[in-house]
Amino acid sequence: MAFTGFFLIFYLIVHAGINATIFFNDSGQTFNAAASFMLHNYVVRILEVGLFAGFILHIIQGIMLWRQNKAARKINYLKQNYVKEINWNSRVMGWLGTFILLFLVMHLYHFWAGTKHELYFHGPEVNLYEEMKEIFTNPVWFALYMIGLGSLLFHLLHGFHSAFETFGINNKRWTPIIIAIGVFYSVVICLLFASMPLAFMVGWLQ
Ligand code: HEM
Repeated sequence: MAFTGFFLIFYLIVHAGINATIFFNDSGQTFNAAASFMLHNYVVRILEVGLFAGFILHIIQGIMLWRQNKAARKINYLKQNYVKEINWNSRVMGWLGTFILLFLVMHLYHFWAGTKHELYFHGPEVNLYEEMKEIFTNPVWFALYMIGLGSLLFHLLHGFHSAFETFGINNKRWTPIIIAIGVFYSVVICLLFASMPLAFMVGWLQ
């Protein structure tokens, strides 16, 4: 779980970085060029298969871990002590993960399925920037993206340092540093992602 988590943490940096080119505010020229490169590059297409496998594996591992946690305690707690880390872990991470999965289904429907359909059936040029503008100026999609990104923030806030812990890095010296890097990473990535729908919604980007 930690290994696929690391992989997805890295993917989000690349994804947010490429998307951030919309802030050149050049009507999406730079962004569309970068997206087009990614879309037509065979190495990227192969990596994409790895990415999907990573997501699916991470979800399956999450479900297995949740079931193991449940099975380990045959009789349920009469009253749960929600302050304990273990409860936050098994209760909240599962729910956040479920929200993120729903977010991903919506997101792939918006930007992936349509793009591939355009690419294979209507020719090589796809204007992803225009697609973004259309989606993010719709208040319902905008709200759902914000909820999805909020869930991602809390999922990452916990998941980042947990992944290091799983690999045995859990001590007085490193843990506070890893937690600080995790908070920085989670906040910056989620704010950067959230600023994209916001920029279209309020008209900063045309
Ligand atoms: C508001 C922020 C986001 C924007 C504007 C955005 C935009 C896009 C766009 C335009 C694509 C299509 C790219 C292409 O087909 O080459 C895409 C694909 C994708 N996005 Fe996002 N994205 C956002 C957030 C996220 C988040 C938070 C995740 C993961 C939790 C994510 C996961 C994916 C995946 C898995 C794909 C398909 C991968 C691929 O096409 O290779 N995105 N996104």
